[in-house]
Amino acid sequence: MSLTEIPHPAPGERDLGTSGGLRPFGVYVHVPFCRVRCGYCDFNTYTADELGEGATRASYADTAISEIVQAATRVGRRPVETVFFGGGTPTQLPSADLVRILRAIDDGFGLTDGVEVTTEANPDSVTPESLATLRAGGFNRISFGVQSAVPHVLATLERTHDPARVPQAVRWAREAGFEQVSVDLIYGTPGESMDDWRTSLEQAIALEPNHVSAYALIVEDGTAFARKVRRGEVVMPDDDETADKYLLADEMLSGAGLGWYELSNWARDEAAQCRHNVLYWRSDDWFGIGPGAHSHLAGQRWWNVKHPAAYAQRLAAGESPRHDGETIDADTAHVERIMLETRLRSGLGLDALSPAARRSADGVVARDLATLEGERLVLTRSGRLLADAVVRELVD
Ligand SMILES: C[S@@+](CC[C@H](N)C(=O)[O-])C[C@H]1O[C@@H](n2cnc3c(N)ncnc32)[C@H](O)[C@@H]1O
Ligand code: SF4
Repeated sequence: MSLTEIPHPAPGERDLGTSGGLRPFGVYVHVPFCRVRCGYCDFNTYTADELGEGATRASYADTAISEIVQAATRVGRRPVETVFFGGGTPTQLPSADLVRILRAIDDGFGLTDGVEVTTEANPDSVTPESLATLRAGGFNRISFGVQSAVPHVLATLERTHDPARVPQAVRWAREAGFEQVSVDLIYGTPGESMDDWRTSLEQAIALEPNHVSAYALIVEDGTAFARKVRRGEVVMPDDDETADKYLLADEMLSGAGLGWYELSNWARDEAAQCRHNVLYWRSDDWFGIGPGAHSHLAGQRWWNVKHPAAYAQRLAAGESPRHDGETIDADTAHVERIMLETRLRSGLGLDALSPAARRSADGVVARDLATLEGERLVLTRSGRLLADAVVRELVD
């Protein structure tokens, strides 16, 4: 693309190159494809049947690359510390396409020497060859969606992978040279007993991952799973059971040498933390590439058109794929800082609190929901179970 072809910023967009400051900068690449849709998931992702006309998997890399060229023109060269390919299922694309997209990010923005490059993957969407291509192309972290090791739980979630594939996929990733391997788990699926959850944790730990994410199942409106819940075909567990499962996860994972660093994330050591997610949680800067992707840069937040066809059409016409956005005012930034930092093991800086909120923090400490570590408020284990309530007390 020549300079004269640079798309004019859409209304509300402005030059982001000079005002981005020196905060850490990351790039998120959304890959909106899945082989099948899991009943509980409302991510912006499409199976081959759902995709319709106007966008194809085969053309996706070129479309995303054209957005990267546009983005780099607006932001200028800014060293990228983390890149995260999420989805959807990025590994539904050929590895060579993912590597091409990564190269375009390097060409446009520049990658730092120690850049963290993650891809999400389903255990049944990788091969030794695809993983070797990714590793050779610069990817160094992989996050497998495992969810559960128990067949009836996977069936309720409508996950299609065979749990026996998981150790194999992790072994292949290690053989390909991935040092950072993470597994994603879900707890609180209807019908999952405490023993089932223990089994999933044991099997996840046996994989010797450097990182584990464990999230409670969320019933998302509009999903097939939400309809089943509404019709009474499946019954969600009560809050006490979900809390007990969180505590079991924390006990077993910490017993295995994985310490919490965010409410739902555990890592073997600091180097194993997902630096890209930490960048989100610290409200640093990132550019989101792909349909529906969100960006957060220079005090603004914006998001792209959602459908891959609309996204491809905008870029083919040389236009910005931005759909809408907002300027983040001081009040919003303040509330977000409290919400996000409170969830971190490194804790919330007391400088974020007004005098009234500081008194609320003292109350939280008195009730053993948090401790003070120097000038930071850090949730205790019981405080982690009540994190949302603690945040409400601290936001005045
Ligand atoms: C984009 S997916 C990860 C990659 C891959 N598509 C997969 O599912 O393994 C990101 C994570 O979000 C989780 N997720 C999606 N919908 C969820 C929900 N309703 N409740 C909790 N976790 C959810 C998935 O299970 C997955 O681990
Ligand atoms: S959970 Fe992952 S594999 Fe399942 S539909 Fe969502 S993005 Fe696709």
